[in-house]
Amino acid sequence: MSETNVSVNAELRDVAEEVTEQALDQAARAEVLLDVQDLSVTLFTEDGALPAIRNLSFVMRRGETLAVVGESGCGKSMTALSIMGLLPQPPAKIVGGKILLEGADLAALTRDEMRTYRGSKIGMIFQEPMTSLNPVMTAGRQIREGILVHNPKMPKKDADARALEMIRLVGIPAPEKVFRSYPHELSGGMRQRVMIAMALACQPALLICDEPTTALDVTIQAQILQLIDRMREELGTAVMLITHDMGVVSEMADWVAVMYAGHLVEYTLASELFTNPKHPYSIGLINSIPSLDDAVEKLYAIPGNVPMLDELPSGCPFHPRCPYARDVCRRECPHVAPLDGNENHTVACWMFDSEKWGE
Ligand SMILES: Nc1ncnc2c1ncn2[C@@H]1O[C@H](COP(=O)(O)OP(=O)(O)OP(=O)(O)O)[C@@H](O)[C@H]1O
Ligand code: SF4
Ligand SMILES: [Mg+2]
Repeated sequence: MSETNVSVNAELRDVAEEVTEQALDQAARAEVLLDVQDLSVTLFTEDGALPAIRNLSFVMRRGETLAVVGESGCGKSMTALSIMGLLPQPPAKIVGGKILLEGADLAALTRDEMRTYRGSKIGMIFQEPMTSLNPVMTAGRQIREGILVHNPKMPKKDADARALEMIRLVGIPAPEKVFRSYPHELSGGMRQRVMIAMALACQPALLICDEPTTALDVTIQAQILQLIDRMREELGTAVMLITHDMGVVSEMADWVAVMYAGHLVEYTLASELFTNPKHPYSIGLINSIPSLDDAVEKLYAIPGNVPMLDELPSGCPFHPRCPYARDVCRRECPHVAPLDGNENHTVACWMFDSEKWGE
């Protein structure tokens, strides 16, 4: 490696350390909003009980963005649906753990009780807005109805004014026209903005975005992500951003939870993950980020696939794809543990347990 490279890397490390310190300062000041403790979700199917999420723990603070990443089938949407109280029941069921939102355990609420939290305390944006928007109701009326569910005493006129204000706030040109439009009369980007307006109309403390821009073209994608980030800043909303796109994570996230086969494998600050990733799966994800000057043949892909839930391997679920796997990995599943005692960087990998690794 050349001297220039070494000094550039040292500079990058310095910048990353500074960003990490600032982020930790901010985290220490911010109030914890969501505290997920040991959450486990099982799918009860004809083939038996399948573990969709195992012992998942993380916190989210007000005004911060947590990115949840991992390949398809790793349990990202199941995590979001558990928090929203929208798991497909049957077959899914929370079988353990707590989901504390401002201290109240959402996992213990009934569906009816959960309904009061959705919309007022938690908003959600899905990948495909058409599945959440009512095709026979105008955009304005849908936003108004959402407002009225949580503010039943508000006069309709005021709810309409608020709905229009939300449409304006999410940067829709000609808001009055969009207010009167049906979803099929709007473009994909516009529909996504309407859904964001709906999700934020009651100023929820937590906004969950499950692949919010995958169906949109790149320019609209960037606009929607900027909008979500602006809303977070202006309204102090905590944002959970579920995405496959590590580029988006590096731009938007304060914290990152890396999931694999229903397990949390690494959880830390985004600045730390990109400069000092520890779990072999996180390293694989980061190495898979294409860069502009990469030739196609240089693109890296983690070998193999995420296992199906009925074919989970013994021990560490990542071991069949891990270049470092040892006997202990094939035998026992690693627990999430702080790295060198640092609670802000946790990893589930035997490599960081000197006793097990040295066996
Ligand atoms: N209704 C269901 N019935 C049975 N299995 C399901 C159901 N929904 C999800 N699963 C399984 O649960 C696991 C986690 O799925 P989940 O939808 O959370 O993945 P994901 O990380 O969101 O993936 P993607 O990136 O493709 O959206 C997968 O193995 C999936 O096949
Ligand atoms: S526990 Fe073993 S197999 Fe799993 S990620 Fe760590 S080194 Fe790889
Ligand atoms: Mg999903």
